[in-house]
Amino acid sequence: MTIVINMRDGLDERKIKVAGRLIIEGKLVAFPTETVYGLGADALNEKAVRRIFEAKGRPADNPLIVHIAEFDDLKKLAREIPKEAKLLAEKFWPGPLTLVLPKREEVPLVTTGGLDTVAVRMPAHPIALALIRASTPIAAPSANISGKPSPTLAEHVVDDFYGRIEAIIDGGPTWVGVESTVIDLSSERPTLLRPGGLPLEEIEKVIGPVEIHPAVKGKAVDLARAPGMKYRHYSPNAPVVVVEGPRERVREKIEELIAEYRSKGYRVGVMATEEFEADEFFHLGETLEDVAKNLFRALRELDRRGVDVIIAEGVEERGLGLAVMNRLRKASGYRIIRA
Ligand code: TXA
Ligand code: MG
Repeated sequence: MTIVINMRDGLDERKIKVAGRLIIEGKLVAFPTETVYGLGADALNEKAVRRIFEAKGRPADNPLIVHIAEFDDLKKLAREIPKEAKLLAEKFWPGPLTLVLPKREEVPLVTTGGLDTVAVRMPAHPIALALIRASTPIAAPSANISGKPSPTLAEHVVDDFYGRIEAIIDGGPTWVGVESTVIDLSSERPTLLRPGGLPLEEIEKVIGPVEIHPAVKGKAVDLARAPGMKYRHYSPNAPVVVVEGPRERVREKIEELIAEYRSKGYRVGVMATEEFEADEFFHLGETLEDVAKNLFRALRELDRRGVDVIIAEGVEERGLGLAVMNRLRKASGYRIIRA
């Protein structure tokens, strides 16, 4: 049985207590953060954490992020806290930034996917912070079935997990919309492992140049040689194609593709920052912030409306655009069309 705890009108300490109890008892509770919804369990309880992997269908070697509510909790999880970690935490926590640090023995290897490091973040959502305070540090991946778009509404979590976890806290829509930026501070040089809700430029202002892990950019291959299923991630049921290039040419290319797919009898969905005449259209908004916020919702929503193919407009890769393009390219399985 899953209880859906309504907190759309704001924090309710009595309900938080109930949810916090469930975490302490080793149960699974999905909760909102400012980025996406998380599927939470007591980070130090192996059995509970194992259930997260089972529920998501997540490979056991893909580590989880541990969520904390006070800086002092970091000392209980990380063996060493380098000065970069202190500087970044001071400036950006609570917020969409995750730091990877050498782990303490107390953190189970199940939580860290067998690694000697632990990823930690302090989320900037009052419900998430209250839930952690009412329980313990919480391990939480995004609350989606592995491979599907991350959830930015409680409804998305209900779709994926109703009947399979103990509780879902509905805190309304999340406001960042893409997951946290992950920075590895456990090796010699600070390295970006995943672009996310905190732009890399902001991080570099505080700690100087950050290396970019080669996996971050992914590869832009042409349609004919797309590796396909192997890289599917963040994917709705309908195939996604991303159109990238100079703005004017992108518009033209999208119109061309709509016509082409429609002539084959496909129901075509488009997600973009300006209007298009398609079978289904989702307006992503105008700014990069809007696009980040609406991205995952658009993928799920166009799927729900039953389109056969989704055409997504690419955006520039600066600021939040780096995270947006990383998610879009993965969602498309690298079916990228250059305009
Ligand atoms: O915004 C977010 O980060 C959301 C909310 C719920 O906080 N969480 C989230 O978790 O996106 P998840 O599990 O979907 O993504 C965690 C990412 C993965 O790419 C994982 O490989 C990486 O963080 N990660 C976790 N621990 C790591 C570690 N010890 N070393 C390297 N990467 C790690
Ligand atoms: Mg995820």
